[in-house]
Amino acid sequence: MGDGKNHKTLQLQLNELGLSVEDLPKDLEAWQKLLETIANTYHNHEDSHAILERSLDDSSSEINEYHQRSLNNAKLVAMGEMSAGIVHEINNPLAAISGYTENLEMQLEQRDGDFGMEMKFCQRIDANIELINQIIKGMKNVARDGEHDAFEKVPFKEIVSQTIAIVRARNKRSMVNITVSECEDDLLAYCRQAQIAQILINILNNAVDAVEESENPWVKLVVKKNGNWIEVRVIDSGCGIPKDVAAKIFEPFFTTKAPGKGTGLGLSISRGIIRSHSGDFYLDEMSTNTCFVVRLPVYHEGLHVA
Ligand SMILES: Nc1ncnc2c1ncn2[C@@H]1O[C@H](COP(=O)(O)OP(=O)(O)O)[C@@H](O)[C@H]1O
Ligand SMILES: [Mg+2]
Repeated sequence: MGDGKNHKTLQLQLNELGLSVEDLPKDLEAWQKLLETIANTYHNHEDSHAILERSLDDSSSEINEYHQRSLNNAKLVAMGEMSAGIVHEINNPLAAISGYTENLEMQLEQRDGDFGMEMKFCQRIDANIELINQIIKGMKNVARDGEHDAFEKVPFKEIVSQTIAIVRARNKRSMVNITVSECEDDLLAYCRQAQIAQILINILNNAVDAVEESENPWVKLVVKKNGNWIEVRVIDSGCGIPKDVAAKIFEPFFTTKAPGKGTGLGLSISRGIIRSHSGDFYLDEMSTNTCFVVRLPVYHEGLHVA
């Protein structure tokens, strides 16, 4: 009875290995071969198991990242809705101020006398109206989940000026000197504009946060065409990021900021977005000053991203 059961179990186990009782070895050498096959099969199973575990790990951190991105996007959407209302309210009085200033300038031109000073003030008002317009335009663009936007051909200069206006507004009270290099007029990116603006704002704000408390702090945004790449460098007066910290900054939730000040999501989300633009985003560890680099393909006929 017992023997019969054992025989059946043996048969089943052999079946799993693709063998039958008739295949059982008749001599020692054949036994050795069979045992080797069994050992190999076992190791292969172990390997597949490890691979499966690794891919499960990858998937779960991807799901985690996706979840956080959705939360963040939801916040952006809410902010977008709110700012759309505010933008609408600001636009009307702003248009009125712009109209009155224009009127005043015309009046001054028609009058006799030296109104140089008054004209200068009018020009300053104009410049400030333009600045508010840039901030408003930027807010409309940025405070949105741009994930489903279509890719567009955009002058990179436009993204830079919107970004800088917002960053300067956020850091108006800080002592950090924020400068931008000239950006070629005809440099075109093929991108989701709102997303690229969001990324640059985060990198610039990170830079301001990092140097704010130091002496003579500065942040520089440099845009250059490098072959087929638009190369953006955000450099600050800090002296690089220690290696052990740098190793973690692109991980989701890694932050050195106080609770409520940082989410630790900016850089990891940014990297994902830049990759979806077939670009590159990294910390330039060769630079003396802290320097983040974003590379995006220059727009050209037939460009295919992602
Ligand atoms: N320019 C910088 N200089 C020094 N550290 C930086 C700089 N930019 C980013 N970091 C580090 O990277 C971390 C992660 O940045 P980020 O992903 O944007 O999240 P958060 O800004 O919410 O902390 C920051 O908390 C900071 O420690
Ligand atoms: Mg940040």
